[in-house]
Amino acid sequence: MGMYQLEGKTAIVTGSGRAGGIGAAIIKRFAAEGCNVVVSDLGTSAGENFPDSAIGSTQEMERIAEECRSYGVQALTIPCDVRKEADVTRLVEQAVKAFGTVDIFVNNAGVGYLMQLVTEMEEEKWSAVMDVNVKGYFFGIKHAGRQMIAQAESGRRGGRIINIGSQASKSGFPFAAAYTASKHAVVGLTRSAAIELGKYGITVNTVCPNHITTGLGAWQNEFFAEKLGLTLEQYMARMKANIPLGRTGLTQDIAKACAFLASAEAEYITGEAMNVSGGEEMH
Ligand SMILES: NC(=O)c1ccc[n+]([C@@H]2O[C@H](COP(=O)([O-])OP(=O)(O)OC[C@H]3O[C@@H](n4cnc5c(N)ncnc54)[C@H](O)[C@@H]3O)[C@@H](O)[C@H]2O)c1
Repeated sequence: MGMYQLEGKTAIVTGSGRAGGIGAAIIKRFAAEGCNVVVSDLGTSAGENFPDSAIGSTQEMERIAEECRSYGVQALTIPCDVRKEADVTRLVEQAVKAFGTVDIFVNNAGVGYLMQLVTEMEEEKWSAVMDVNVKGYFFGIKHAGRQMIAQAESGRRGGRIINIGSQASKSGFPFAAAYTASKHAVVGLTRSAAIELGKYGITVNTVCPNHITTGLGAWQNEFFAEKLGLTLEQYMARMKANIPLGRTGLTQDIAKACAFLASAEAEYITGEAMNVSGGEEMH
């Protein structure tokens, strides 16, 4: 039995099909808590700004779903490009068709590898970041929110929407104007949606991780070490020195926060942007 009495609920996590990613850790945690889960990701490369090296492939999605099934729950894989409203609509519809409800929806799919100085940023890259990190989250909130409202109106109160923000939801970072703007936008989206959906017993919160060495995180480490003229080891040591709890984040740290926010224990928490950063970010 799970820690948070989430057995039988349905959880969807976007961008959860990449091995070692935050989304994969979150979806596995929900499976371990007894939820039926939907592993969702691009599943195939979608052009120059979304290369195979940076996305969750169809095979990876299936492997993660298989790990989820080992907890004795049902797990579907549904490809979804969060930039496309029709895909997000279908994601929610298929989950409802399979499991009857959507109780937990996590907007996690994100792009953090298109980094340029703001004075050099190409419009196409800016738009790619905004389309996934802001528009994609909006579509998720819109369609999961509609489904959760319908559930509330038929007597089943409550629903949980969790957005994965970042330390860049609170502070600025060089080479990351688009990413930082997008992650700040997630906080605004969270607050407005929390106000609108509160009356249905739906909470909307953001979890803000600091650095985690996922596929994306590893790319960022190399990028920033090179920009700063440091070795990877020097860069990592410098990062750790700024973290009161003395280590960088783990994907499980974020999964734990999501499990808590999805639970009845967090029923009175909404509109928050909660840091999970070992104390590196405090506001
Ligand atoms: N790793 C970190 O240090 C860190 C820190 C703070 C916040 N985050 C955030 O956590 C989330 C997950 O990042 P991660 O580090 O696990 O990276 P990751 O690259 O492992 O995961 C991102 C996932 O998003 C998917 N994705 C990208 N574009 C998509 C699209 N259009 N539609 C659907 N899926 C798409 C990718 O395929 C991938 O599976 C992101 O929102 C990221 O911004 C990461």
